[in-house]
Amino acid sequence: MPTTSRLASSRREFLRQTATAAVAAPALFHAVSAETATGILSGPQKGPVVISTWPFGKPSNEQTLKTLREGGSGLDAVEQGIRLTESDLSNPSVGLGGIPNSEGIVQLDACIMTGPGHRAGSVAAVIGYQHPISIARKVMETTKHVMLVGEGAMRFAQEHGFEKGPEVTDGQREAWKKWRSEQPKPTVGGARPPAPNHDTLALLLLAPDGNLYGGCSTSGWGYKLPGRVGDSPIIGSGLYVDNEVGAAGATGIGENVMRYCASFLIVELMRQGRHPQEACIEVIQRIARQDPKGFDLSINFIAIDRQGRYGAAGTGTGFQYAVAASDFSRVEQSVGLTSAPIGPVGGNRPK
Ligand code: GLY
Repeated sequence: MPTTSRLASSRREFLRQTATAAVAAPALFHAVSAETATGILSGPQKGPVVISTWPFGKPSNEQTLKTLREGGSGLDAVEQGIRLTESDLSNPSVGLGGIPNSEGIVQLDACIMTGPGHRAGSVAAVIGYQHPISIARKVMETTKHVMLVGEGAMRFAQEHGFEKGPEVTDGQREAWKKWRSEQPKPTVGGARPPAPNHDTLALLLLAPDGNLYGGCSTSGWGYKLPGRVGDSPIIGSGLYVDNEVGAAGATGIGENVMRYCASFLIVELMRQGRHPQEACIEVIQRIARQDPKGFDLSINFIAIDRQGRYGAAGTGTGFQYAVAASDFSRVEQSVGLTSAPIGPVGGNRPK
């Protein structure tokens, strides 16, 4: 079957399954029962398929596909996709436009991973560089290490001539000054600072040749203590890619992800046969069962498998994520999980 027919066919299968599931499980659009939720499960499709966290992932997905169309490798595509969002200084969660730490300085975390060869590169607590995802790739490709942090990562970036940028944008500096003036006492080394919203770009690609790639980039928890590193650059926590099975990525409060190696767990559940969405749900259920906070965790996951099936789930009302393939690019609503019904939530309904 020609590729386009196969894509149309798998798309038809997805729509058929979507319609069937909507009829069979109407409750999924309403009460969020963590015990029963499975959401609507996407069908298989041939690559390229790219999935990323939050609506701001949509242009990154499109850049990923464009890079592939222009002859770039899967790794190039992931890197270029993430660089697009890192370049957007109006994004408060990714790149140098991000919310700074408690001393008013933006510290960036990122990692990249390639299915073929099972290689990974990562950087954490990087200040003043525009594209931590590219530094992470360089760590992977030119050193024997996986992760560089702080001073060492920045010296490495400088030696390789990476592009510098502002330590913080004017807008974020003003917001930080206001925040700091409202703090009862300096927070460095003191109590955990309050957490303004922060999101993360995790992006997963099933390339046309069937290989999997992923990347993750964030400015992390706003007003974090200097030196705090979240889940995003930690292989197995904020991102994991296994070319035999699938890939998973995370967004939300990193502390609630990294204590459970959540992305690794999702991939391992897919290895046991779970659909990506079922795997995301099961990992959240498992974490909530053990964690004193229950479902009050602010954690969200995306996943894709080698068959091109994908899914997502989050705590509370869930979250929005972006998906693109050769014939579509859209934002979808994830399943949301909580211990109590909280009203209408998503079930992979295209927005
Ligand atoms: N998930 C990003 C962070 O907590 O830093």
